[in-house]
Amino acid sequence: MKDIKLTLAADGIEPGRVPKRKLNTGAQMPAVGMGTFGSDKYSGEQVAAAVIEAATLGYRHFDCASVYGNEALIGEALELVRRGGIPREELWVTSKVWNDSHGDGDVIRSCRQSLKDLRLEYLDLYLVHWPFPNFHPKGCSGDYHNPNAKPYIHEDYMRVWAQMEELVRLGLVRAIGTSNMSAAKMRLVLRDCEVLPAVNEMELHPHLQQPELFKYVVDNGIQPVGFCPLGSPSRPERDRTPDDTVDLEDPVIVKIAERLGVHPATVCLMWAVKRGEVAIPFAVKRVQLLSNLKAAVDNPLTPEDMQAIAGIDRGCRLIKGQVFLWREGLSWEDLWDEDGKIAQ
Ligand SMILES: NC(=O)c1ccc[n+]([C@@H]2O[C@H](COP(=O)([O-])OP(=O)(O)OC[C@H]3O[C@@H](n4cnc5c(N)ncnc54)[C@H](OP(=O)(O)O)[C@@H]3O)[C@@H](O)[C@H]2O)c1
Repeated sequence: MKDIKLTLAADGIEPGRVPKRKLNTGAQMPAVGMGTFGSDKYSGEQVAAAVIEAATLGYRHFDCASVYGNEALIGEALELVRRGGIPREELWVTSKVWNDSHGDGDVIRSCRQSLKDLRLEYLDLYLVHWPFPNFHPKGCSGDYHNPNAKPYIHEDYMRVWAQMEELVRLGLVRAIGTSNMSAAKMRLVLRDCEVLPAVNEMELHPHLQQPELFKYVVDNGIQPVGFCPLGSPSRPERDRTPDDTVDLEDPVIVKIAERLGVHPATVCLMWAVKRGEVAIPFAVKRVQLLSNLKAAVDNPLTPEDMQAIAGIDRGCRLIKGQVFLWREGLSWEDLWDEDGKIAQ
């Protein structure tokens, strides 16, 4: 990649206009960021090129993870962005420890690897990607089960969390958080942690609003970060089932979009931002990147629109996590403690 001078595109969004969420650490996190999981559809090179494009459009927040397999390429892109004139302090970079690195010392090792790949000295936010140490081979089928998979074991999770807390003390990360949690698991973590999670990253879109967990984390000073904010229309085949519903085709969303003269995706993002979330839509196409960031700054949804969208929750979870199940006979609902009890 060649050095470039990075200037804001004529139609870009001044980053100062993007709303920020104040975390319990005091840090200010941009309310819309770019997701970087290519969903097996976009190569690392395409996602890295989109990171540069996004920066010229005014994005400063990037949601990464070691398991996305593209952090080294994104690191190259981020270095170009910084050499192009955007200082590190203006960027917000999140990464996540994968399920295969929950052992003693592994969390710190994995974080150091992400820092090296992303060419950074610190991360703004580091998340425990899933609350299970269960992993699967790349490209496996949706019904694959790892014979060593385990249920949620709170003591084990707290050993992972202690390493996350150590990363804060070492200055390698500025904030830490959880992801793919249930309220039952969160309650135990909040009871036993020394450093509170600053965010909980969770699936959030109009057809999966998770109102109880959303309220629980907000009431405890934890920022909800919503993934799949558009209903993940390009997710891999293994994450699709015949019962899944399509947010972008919901009549309520479509009607509001028609009234405002925008794409239904924009309505989903306006709703997320107005609800108080941080949303991390993925896109590599310039037109999508731009309209997704615009939704954060130009948001004419009315209280009636918000109420109408609140009424279309279908409880439709798209990232069900079935590959993380720990024994035969369980169903993906057992990963999410829907009856309030942690399944064993
Ligand atoms: N913590 C976790 O466990 C977790 C899990 C899943 C995802 N994530 C994060 O969340 C991010 C987003 O999730 P996601 O990619 O699954 O779902 P998403 O953001 O809901 O959907 C992204 C897809 O929507 C389409 N799209 C984007 N902008 C659009 C626009 N303005 N108009 C019309 N269509 C548009 C694109 O499809 P086409 O490219 O086909 O046009 C794009 O690939 C990921 O990249 C990742 O960073 C985290």
